[in-house]
Amino acid sequence: MRRLEGKSALITGSARGIGRAFAEAYVREGAAVAIADIDLARATTTAGAIGASAYAVHLDVTNQGSIDAAVAAVEAKAGGIDILVNNAALFDAAPIVDISRASFDRLFAINVGGVLFMLQAVAKSMIARGKGGKIINMASQAGRRGEALVAVYCATKAAVISLTQSAGLDLVRHRINVNAIAPGVVDGEHWDSVDALFAKYENRPRGEKKRLVGEAVPYGRIGRAEDLSGMAIFLASAESDYIVAQTYNVDGGNWMS
Ligand SMILES: NC(=O)c1ccc[n+]([C@@H]2O[C@H](COP(=O)([O-])OP(=O)(O)OC[C@H]3O[C@@H](n4cnc5c(N)ncnc54)[C@H](O)[C@@H]3O)[C@@H](O)[C@H]2O)c1
Repeated sequence: MRRLEGKSALITGSARGIGRAFAEAYVREGAAVAIADIDLARATTTAGAIGASAYAVHLDVTNQGSIDAAVAAVEAKAGGIDILVNNAALFDAAPIVDISRASFDRLFAINVGGVLFMLQAVAKSMIARGKGGKIINMASQAGRRGEALVAVYCATKAAVISLTQSAGLDLVRHRINVNAIAPGVVDGEHWDSVDALFAKYENRPRGEKKRLVGEAVPYGRIGRAEDLSGMAIFLASAESDYIVAQTYNVDGGNWMS
């Protein structure tokens, strides 16, 4: 028995990386998945590669009109939304004295405002439909403690953990579960750009930071997007109905809480 049979899911930022792996896993479990991304061309290619149960939707999580249009498009296509994964995010790094207001505003607009206002729009849709739902926010081990060079991104991910708690407590009466996943280090294009920033600020050769953080994971290697899929399926399924407002570390043992 597939665990998400007949469900409708919307995954933000799923044209690539972790969101794409979740879309593949959800389709395998029987869901129809909206690949909702600011990069529509890549979302279309990704949906085509996944198969008939995946379809592309343009979405900019910083734009309310775009959020409303994406939610309406999924409602029209699939009859409603059972599962939202708030996955889209942006990373940046800089010493405190070099942080720009533009970087701060952009990261908070996507990583925090994007999560809150997507969650709000989808919660309204779920409440009107009256069938409850599952909302999964992508936090990070970066939200568990601050890090030199990563102040703004860490603060956005701490905010995601806090929003998950508040929204989880508010929406449980509508039988909407809000929970979060806190990954550690996951290989892919995201970490390639993280590595490039550390190379610049820590004067390292390209690739060294990624190798070192991978070696430091207690499990013994850097994470793969697929390592997170089991938790993403569980939090989207009926098996997690009694789990409310939690953030789960899926990080090979990097963080314990
Ligand atoms: N990769 C890691 O090591 C890691 C670790 C901890 C947490 N995370 C979190 O997991 C999530 C996915 O990470 P990833 O590595 O797959 O990232 P990624 O950078 O590979 O993918 C992000 C996706 O979001 C899309 N996007 C960017 N801005 C958008 C916007 N305004 N509206 C809609 N879509 C937008 C991008 O086009 C891209 O497809 C993020 O929330 C990230 O913070 C990742």
